Amino acid sequence: MNKKNLIIFLIVVLAAAAVAAAVIIAVSIAGKGPGPVDPAETPEETAESELPERFGDFSSVSLTIGNDPRTSANITWQAIETGLSGYVSYYEKSADAGSAVKVESVVEDEKFGVPVDGQYEFKNPQLEEIPGQVHRVYLTDLKPDTEYVYTVGYEGGPACAERSFRTASESTEFSFILVADTQGFTKRNFDVWENLAGLAAEQCPDFDFVIHMGDAVEEGKNHYQWQLYFNAAEKLTAGKQVVDVAGNRDKRHTLLRYTNGAADNRAALVSGYYSFDWGNVHFAVLNTNDGDKDLPKSQLKWLSNDLSAAEGKTKIILMHKAPYTNTNHCMDSEIVQIRAQILPIAEQYGVKAVICGHDHYFFRSLPIDGEGNEVSYEKTSVSIGGTTADMFRSNGTVYFVNGSAGVKQHDDPITNAFPAKTAKASLMKGPSFSYVTVDAGKIVVYTYVCENNTLKLFDAFGIYLDAIQSGS
Ligand SMILES: [Fe+2]
Repeated sequence: MNKKNLIIFLIVVLAAAAVAAAVIIAVSIAGKGPGPVDPAETPEETAESELPERFGDFSSVSLTIGNDPRTSANITWQAIETGLSGYVSYYEKSADAGSAVKVESVVEDEKFGVPVDGQYEFKNPQLEEIPGQVHRVYLTDLKPDTEYVYTVGYEGGPACAERSFRTASESTEFSFILVADTQGFTKRNFDVWENLAGLAAEQCPDFDFVIHMGDAVEEGKNHYQWQLYFNAAEKLTAGKQVVDVAGNRDKRHTLLRYTNGAADNRAALVSGYYSFDWGNVHFAVLNTNDGDKDLPKSQLKWLSNDLSAAEGKTKIILMHKAPYTNTNHCMDSEIVQIRAQILPIAEQYGVKAVICGHDHYFFRSLPIDGEGNEVSYEKTSVSIGGTTADMFRSNGTVYFVNGSAGVKQHDDPITNAFPAKTAKASLMKGPSFSYVTVDAGKIVVYTYVCENNTLKLFDAFGIYLDAIQSGS
């Protein structure tokens, strides 16, 4: 190599080194934005002002669906103190505040896990257990299709700012927002969920309630994560009833501290499975998280009886772990067992859809029978509100998995280990939610994904509620 070529060679080497350094710096900076949850226990800098109040606040007030969403609602909150008497004061928005009715809370002593100092942003921090209380109030005898205003407070102590919610109407037309797996452990993780929650409420402002398919937080025992979750969720859930499905992360025994489910009796509350009707749809909510195993016989018996009693209604099952999917979870031992348990029941009782989370991935099946085989169906593409949706009419069940609404997007390859009858399956490049509309004749599911802080319609499909005519 002569001198001239040597100089050119050195210039090229130096330029390449500069580009590499710039890329490393850019990647490093980009890494400080929202991204996949890092499994390493890496603490992050969080300004003191970003930390939720640890004690005596109202940051985790949760309004969940009652046994009948037309006439009831349940409110839960926590006090990291003991010996307090709590209450909910509520009145019809159209009436005078002076008509407010006060209901004392049912109080349960509980211990809450709070990260020890300096470990708030760790994935698995050391938790100190602090004694506190769970407060529960069951509002009943409400009027359908009515807006109520309420406050939560302590006798002789503070009360939260006024909040509101609306009871369900008698209409068979309604809509809801579906989210799943918002789990995270840092403020920055939950910022991703908060951003999506705000965009979802903007995109679909007329929805009636929210269904969370479970795994709200990374570690259910960590009270700090619940505070972050609720603070972020407010953008979507303010003024709405929420349906909580137990996820394996939040687990039933910890979810219980933060929500009421639809139960107003302790036994049903602890079991984690319940059902409710909205319009002419019957929703059966399962608890798939009694350890990594199949569903107990008692829950299956309850499900059969519950679906049997819902004759004449459109039936939907909500469950965190997806029994019918082709993701990396599809051959997990408990999924294999749950698949064998749920599919025959879904067929027997004519369940139209089984909605799930857990996989952090989008999946919807073709209509299938109790053995996982594709059934005959009619498929049409129809334009609904300017969007083209694949509509299915069949006597089978469609299995649907909503992607993660938070920071944790899985990138495991789609597996062929289980031959699911797949209509569409995809990894997601960002947090997603679904907007589901229901009328007397059909259910339509619109799934939106957030990429580069912009919502994109990712998928639209629907199910006609009438049965397919034999011979067609
Ligand atoms: Fe999960």
